Amino acid sequence: MASQQNYIQWNDSLTIDEGVIDDDHRYLIDLSNQFIRFGNKFENAAQAKELTNLLKDYALAHFRREEDLQAQIGFPDHEEHKKAHAELEENLSKIKGIIDENAGVDLQDVSQQVSLLLRRWLLTHILKHDIEMRQYAPQIRAVSAGTVPLKEVAFL
Ligand SMILES: [Fe+2]
Repeated sequence: MASQQNYIQWNDSLTIDEGVIDDDHRYLIDLSNQFIRFGNKFENAAQAKELTNLLKDYALAHFRREEDLQAQIGFPDHEEHKKAHAELEENLSKIKGIIDENAGVDLQDVSQQVSLLLRRWLLTHILKHDIEMRQYAPQIRAVSAGTVPLKEVAFL
């Protein structure tokens, strides 16, 4: 069982737009926590793969959404931000690789590595890069009005 401190917790310092971006981030944190909770007791590699794929699909959809919103509001660091997302996508591939390579072996150890990656990945990116969008929150909310939250989008 993952201990409480392994979970990634939302806190107000992560707030960006009080809108769709925050909703997406909360959902990605939820999915990561599902992974962390599940991590120590995955029954088999297929289960771990399924959750990793879900996380990947939602993360990529979120990155594209953020990039679109940035383009729409003329966010100055748009191109730099895209590069940061590309790096995160590489990290996600690494996570997928870890899961794929470890099919059939002890997933407990693997889940520890993945938890660390997810934590660094989400929190560092939000606090270092996404935070720059905070000053554009009103514009972001204006252009994203009516956008469907990520958690209501189904990939399956
Ligand atoms: Fe971002």
